[in-house]
Amino acid sequence: MRSRNRMLLPLLALMLAVAALSGCGSDTTTTIEPLPNEGEIGRQILDGEALVAERCIVCHDLQRVDETSYDAVGWEATVERMADKGAQLTEDEKSAVVEYLSNR
Ligand code: HEC
Repeated sequence: MRSRNRMLLPLLALMLAVAALSGCGSDTTTTIEPLPNEGEIGRQILDGEALVAERCIVCHDLQRVDETSYDAVGWEATVERMADKGAQLTEDEKSAVVEYLSNR
């Protein structure tokens, strides 16, 4: 009985060590998903029309926008002014909105 236990203990230790090592091994072999290339992230397509319909109706209706016609410079100033009032638009979204409004 006693001698058998003395044999089991090192065996158990060995098994634990192998388990720990193989655990580590599987970490390094995990395949890492490739990141989408930077171009795809940067070239996020923003829909100016959808942005206007969603963000420019918070304080007034779209009629206000529809009955107004500016060139890009005029819309840039207007959109910037709306942002100052509280319109929620990132810089990229502002560009998309100005692009849409001045070309419709
Ligand atoms: C936080 C509230 C708010 C949001 C959001 C908002 N507006 Fe306005 N907008 C106003 C107010 C207030 C006025 C009237 C006072 C003025 O003209 O400054 C106005 C007036 C306007 C006018 C008429 C005056 C002018 O300068 O021609 C236009 C056009 C306009 N907004 C476009 C937009 C567009 C486009 C968006 C979305 C990008 C937008 N607004 C979002 C508050 C807002």
